[in-house]
Amino acid sequence: MEIKTFGVIGAGQMGAGIAQVAAMSGLNVIMNDIKAEFVDKGLANIDKILSRGVEKGKMSEEEKKAVLGRIGASIRLADMASADYVVEAATENEKIKFQIFKDLDEICKEQVILATNTSSIPIGRIAAQTGRAEKVIGMHFMNPVPVMKLVEIIPGLATSNETFQITWDLAEKFGKTPAKANDYPGFIANRILLPMINEAVYCLYHGVGSREDIDTVMKLGMNHPMGPLALADLIGLDTCLAIMETLHDGFKDSKYRPCPLLRKYVEAGWLGKKAGRGFYEYK
Ligand SMILES: NC(=O)c1ccc[n+]([C@@H]2O[C@H](COP(=O)([O-])OP(=O)(O)OC[C@H]3O[C@@H](n4cnc5c(N)ncnc54)[C@H](O)[C@@H]3O)[C@@H](O)[C@H]2O)c1
Repeated sequence: MEIKTFGVIGAGQMGAGIAQVAAMSGLNVIMNDIKAEFVDKGLANIDKILSRGVEKGKMSEEEKKAVLGRIGASIRLADMASADYVVEAATENEKIKFQIFKDLDEICKEQVILATNTSSIPIGRIAAQTGRAEKVIGMHFMNPVPVMKLVEIIPGLATSNETFQITWDLAEKFGKTPAKANDYPGFIANRILLPMINEAVYCLYHGVGSREDIDTVMKLGMNHPMGPLALADLIGLDTCLAIMETLHDGFKDSKYRPCPLLRKYVEAGWLGKKAGRGFYEYK
């Protein structure tokens, strides 16, 4: 089946980014969220990023308008009935994702692949919510989506080779470089990245260093483009905590225990850049 209409569930930082790269590749996109204000915010973010591209001479005003014109807004999951491929990028919460996949399985045409952008929830567990496990796969974009080249592709135990190949080809169509990871908690990217971020939070918690010194050590000492605490703020501290909990639950190993300070920040609503405050303050 030719993919012409691409569905995205969730219009947050990842969903909006995925919708943008899909529309830039020429697909028609339906971007869905639970409230109109969330979809509007996602659209405004895309507009802002594309406008920056126009200012820098990377695209023309007409191209920007054409890309925006290909993105339709939706607050009814039932709109996914016209999608040929769907990526879910809603909040990193098992309950929410399970319900979305149950509903999508009912709503979408039977040949449609249902991908998830989950950072760490096992693909097999999400696939089991549907009657089409062979068409469920992880398509894990990196943040910020328009900039980052990698897409981790994660087949579950039941995912077919055809689903894998179509998803791999789609990532390339979006101008990305795919890499395959097998279905274990955290896959490759977050199995390695998140324990490092969590350890940086422990360093802050134990008073080993200030937020600035921890980030400076990793930037200048290890040549990382961003310090781990600034990166945690960019990812979202709620997402970081959810990933650590998935690793901890999945491996039952205390080395993955989320730092109490990370939990405390999330409970206070200090979710990072998207909330205006995390380990750092943002205007
Ligand atoms: N932030 C990152 O760096 C990053 C990187 C890779 C993957 N991810 C994953 O992408 C997903 C989204 O993360 P994000 O950073 O965009 O979060 P976010 O908080 O910016 O956005 C999540 C969006 O999902 C919406 N949502 C919640 N329930 C929904 C439902 N039932 N139907 C439709 N929309 C719903 C919310 O309203 C919100 O707009 C998560 O699974 C996360 O783990 C995040």
